[in-house]
Amino acid sequence: MNLLIMGPPGAGKGTQAEVLTKELAIPHISTGDMFRAAVKEGTPLGKKAKEYMDRGELVPDEVVVGMVRERLSKPDCGKGFLLDGFPRTVAQAEALDQTLRELKMDLDAVINVAVPRERLMQRLTGRRVCRNCGANYNIWFNKPKEEGKCDQCGGELYQRSDDTETTVANRLDVYEAQTRPLIEYYEQRGLLKNINGDQEIKAVLADILRSLGR
Ligand code: AP5
Ligand code: MG
Ligand code: ZN
Repeated sequence: MNLLIMGPPGAGKGTQAEVLTKELAIPHISTGDMFRAAVKEGTPLGKKAKEYMDRGELVPDEVVVGMVRERLSKPDCGKGFLLDGFPRTVAQAEALDQTLRELKMDLDAVINVAVPRERLMQRLTGRRVCRNCGANYNIWFNKPKEEGKCDQCGGELYQRSDDTETTVANRLDVYEAQTRPLIEYYEQRGLLKNINGDQEIKAVLADILRSLGR
């Protein structure tokens, strides 16, 4: 299956994608994770992306689009993929359509996870991520068994540098202005699956699987 998962910062895209991609045996393509990996490696792409990410702004379209096109061309995407955090602007969505045409691929569904804005600040400022395997936790809603340590691999948990209150506020505004219009873009194509993301993690997953007919 060729899938997109979208929703505001903190909606649970990464949390759901982690399980869904295991279940469906398809690669998880998160542009945010790709940028964070580039930042960690200190590549020129990482240096450029970091400036935008730390302000809670979007990395320029041309940078993201090229990176995604390259990733979708890899052979493992032949059996399907789940794109997380891309596209985020109408220009990116149009570029994705173009890329998929070139690769003779189609989208099967767009999962839109909706969560009221007032919940998102707490989810994001409470998020902790495993430095080793990238698993997501939350100090209020999804605690690790042992504080500061990943349940799955024992790795150290850290806080993302863009999860401060000021940067989160800006990310939420950027979502409203630039990304929300994509809901209508995919609605018009008949691809949209609206999911209530304001429920327990397991209930959200069950709704997503049901919407995909699984
Ligand atoms: P990115 O990494 O994609 O961040 P984001 O879109 O802001 O989304 P998040 O990863 O913060 O949230 P999520 O929905 O994955 O939630 P999660 O599952 O972690 O992008 C970061 C930056 O990179 C952007 O700001 C931009 O600068 C740049 N970038 C990336 N893609 C780009 C693009 N296409 N174009 C331009 N720039 C781009 O969950 C959040 C927390 O809530 C966790 O603690 C989790 O445990 C908890 N939680 C999850 N589900 C639930 C639930 N049901 N109930 C209670 N708690 C829950
Ligand atoms: Mg994420
Ligand atoms: Zn881990």
